[in-house]
Amino acid sequence: MLNIVLFGPPGAGKGTQSEKLIEKYGLLHLSTGDLLRAELKAETPLGQEAKKYMNEGKLVPDDVLIGMVANKVADNKDAKGFIFDGFPRTTVQAEALDKIMADNELSISGMIALEVTEEELTQRILERGKTSGRADDQNEDLIRNRIQEYETKTAPVSNFYKAQDKYFAIDGIGTIDSIFEELCKAVDAL
Ligand code: AP5
Ligand code: MG
Repeated sequence: MLNIVLFGPPGAGKGTQSEKLIEKYGLLHLSTGDLLRAELKAETPLGQEAKKYMNEGKLVPDDVLIGMVANKVADNKDAKGFIFDGFPRTTVQAEALDKIMADNELSISGMIALEVTEEELTQRILERGKTSGRADDQNEDLIRNRIQEYETKTAPVSNFYKAQDKYFAIDGIGTIDSIFEELCKAVDAL
C-alpha cells in the first residue's frame, strides 16, 4: 500500500499534483486544507474555530487536525493508499500521524517535497486569488504570513522523515507535466 505525504510550502503545487497522482495510482486524497474549507463553508463549530486562524494565514491548532485525520483514515482503511496533502504541518502532527497509521496497521511510505522559490509561490497564489475565492489568497501580506508559518513550523517536519530515511525532494518549478513525471519516478521508487 502506498501512503504518501506530499510536502511543500503554500502554492507549491500539492493540490495540483495530488489530482494527477490519485488518477494514476488510485489513491485517496486527504487534503486538510480542503477538509477545513468544507467545515468553514458548512459553518460547523469546527469551521468557525478554524476560520480565525486560516484567514490570518496561521496554522490551526494540532488537536483539531489530528482528530480530523484520525477519523478520515479509520473510515477509509480499505483504500488503495493515501496522499496526505497539507498534513502533517508540525512535528507533533507527524508523530500523531505515525500513531494513527500504526493504529490502523498502516505506515507512511515516504514524504515527497516540492521545492519552489518564495517569489514563484507568491506569484502563483496571487494569480489563483483572482478566481479561487480563498480569503487567504488575496493579499501579499497574508501570503507572506503563510510562508512564514511554513518556514518556522512546517519546514522542520522534513527532519522527522529524514530520520526515518523516508524523505525525497524534487524540483517544483517547471511545467505541471514535467514535475508530475519526476514525482512519479519518486513514487515508483518508494
Ligand atoms: P492548504 O489548503 O493546505 O493551503 P496551502 O498549504 O497554503 O497550500 P495551497 O493549497 O495554497 O497550495 P498547493 O501546494 O496545494 O498548490 P496548488 O496545487 O493549489 O491550507 C490552508 C490553511 O488551512 C492553512 O493556512 C492553515 O490555516 C490551515 N491548515 C491546513 N492544514 C493544516 C494543518 N495540517 N495544520 C494546521 N493548519 C492547517 O497550486 C497553487 C497555484 O499554482 C494554483 O493556481 C495552480 O494552478 C498553480 N500551479 C501549480 N503547479 C504549477 C506549476 N508547475 N507552474 C505554474 N503554476 C502552477
Ligand atoms: Mg492545496
